[in-house]
Amino acid sequence: MDLVLVSRRGLITIVFDAPSSMEYRIPGEMRGKRRLDNLSKNYGTCIEGKLLYVKHKLLRMIMNSSMKEHWDEIYAALDADELTWYEEIPEPSIKLLSKCHINTDESILDVGAGSSTFVDYLVNQGFKNIIATDLSEIALNKLKERLDEEKASLVRWIVDDITQPVHIQNLRDIAVWHDRAVLHFLLEEEQQQQYLSTLQKVIGKGGYVIIAAFSLEGAKKCSGLNIKNYDQNMLAKFLGEDFSLLEYFDYKHYMPSGEPRPYIYTLFQKN
Ligand SMILES: C[S@@+](CC[C@H](N)C(=O)[O-])C[C@H]1O[C@@H](n2cnc3c(N)ncnc32)[C@H](O)[C@@H]1O
Repeated sequence: MDLVLVSRRGLITIVFDAPSSMEYRIPGEMRGKRRLDNLSKNYGTCIEGKLLYVKHKLLRMIMNSSMKEHWDEIYAALDADELTWYEEIPEPSIKLLSKCHINTDESILDVGAGSSTFVDYLVNQGFKNIIATDLSEIALNKLKERLDEEKASLVRWIVDDITQPVHIQNLRDIAVWHDRAVLHFLLEEEQQQQYLSTLQKVIGKGGYVIIAAFSLEGAKKCSGLNIKNYDQNMLAKFLGEDFSLLEYFDYKHYMPSGEPRPYIYTLFQKN
């Protein structure tokens, strides 16, 4: 397939010969000259900041044929602190966790953990029953590497897709379900229902649910993917009557570029 590479204000756009509506953009995380070096190592040949040749792998990713590949490619190309959602200290999650009053033996499931620093925080706080799950094995491996071997051995690692779970749905008595920036990627009703049905199965009575998503005034895309924006009422409706909304707040996350990303943070408890 012929393709043309066009550079617009540091953003590389790949345009296929036909039809003209088929225009695919490299995800935001990979923009910028410095990023091109990374990109070229993984995906093609880069000469003087220009990407001249793109491997088939990248085309497949851009065409979004597989979410797993999409996320694996991003985590393979970038370090954790280069991701737009990177937090040095996951303060809003810590704040809501502190309202849960659970002890360190109880289980915390980080859904779509990626390479999140929330897991480092939990390990360092002495939690002994941490489960980190993600679609991307590469993301979880990066997180494992960041923790030392001893700390990594304290975490249960599960590669799974929350929209087609094989392993997570067998978990029980989870005390805290933590999701930052995962549910909002699920655009299909069926995916959302699968997420909800897994959550309902695994959360114990009195268990807590922390969900953070892009708020209504937040971005409409993340990592090159469309997202669904939420407010606390939409999340309460989604979880249904079995869950009570205990607390919520708006929070501005600042990306490495310095731009703000407004989130809604919510804490629910199972009745
Ligand atoms: C924006 S990142 C957030 C990562 C992490 N929660 C954090 O706050 O740093 C979204 C994460 O969701 C994961 N993800 C996306 N779709 C998923 C799915 N269907 N099942 C499990 N994980 C998924 C991605 O691999 C990625 O790690």
